[in-house]
Amino acid sequence: MPHPAGPTWEAIDPVRYIANRSSGKQGFAIAAAAAALGARVTLVAGPVALKTPAGVKRLDVESAQEMAETVKRSLPADVAVMVAAVADWRPKEYRGEKIKKRGSAPPALMLTENPDILTNLATGAKRPGLVIGFAAETENVIENAKQKRKRKVADWIVANDVSGDVMGGDMNRVHIVSAEGVETLNEMPKSAVAMALAERIAAAFRAEAAE
Ligand code: CTP
Repeated sequence: MPHPAGPTWEAIDPVRYIANRSSGKQGFAIAAAAAALGARVTLVAGPVALKTPAGVKRLDVESAQEMAETVKRSLPADVAVMVAAVADWRPKEYRGEKIKKRGSAPPALMLTENPDILTNLATGAKRPGLVIGFAAETENVIENAKQKRKRKVADWIVANDVSGDVMGGDMNRVHIVSAEGVETLNEMPKSAVAMALAERIAAAFRAEAAE
């Protein structure tokens, strides 16, 4: 189960980067829960200060491009859970030397779009049987998640409302959006959200195997 989590860092020069806000806590908790239920988890970790959960293989990456390549290399797989807060853009050019501020105007940062790891995985030849994406939303949470599920060709989108203090915090409230409908879980610790999700993944997997 390839499982990208945490943010990505997109280097501007040797000392600067742009990034998304992400502690990686929810993603690492899902890796721990899935491993505890017996899944073989490859945690593709962006830069975070978290310990590797027991029984999980961890591959550290920094940028979205590295994350995309590492996910590709960890296929084939039965399930993919994409929790990473991938930076949507990266600087068009990497400057090998530190950009000096003395005597010059602030640099104009030209950006280019990063690959969408989830969409590429969901539409690729080695698509896992169950592809799960996350959606961090600040408004119209469920409606946006439904659209995102279709647009990204994911089986489930786990939507969380990040308008409060979810980011970096230990609690989370999520809605699981699938073709069958929407299941809203109560607010609970991220570890409990992770176990609830891992149990649903295991159940979906058992159902598929029985068919
Ligand atoms: N995702 C990805 N690669 C990207 C951007 C996002 O794999 N380059 C994945 C995330 O890991 C997550 C899902 O797509 O599972 C949704 O991410 P989100 O940031 O909510 O979606 P965006 O495509 O950035 O949509 P928008 O910014 O329009 O809300």
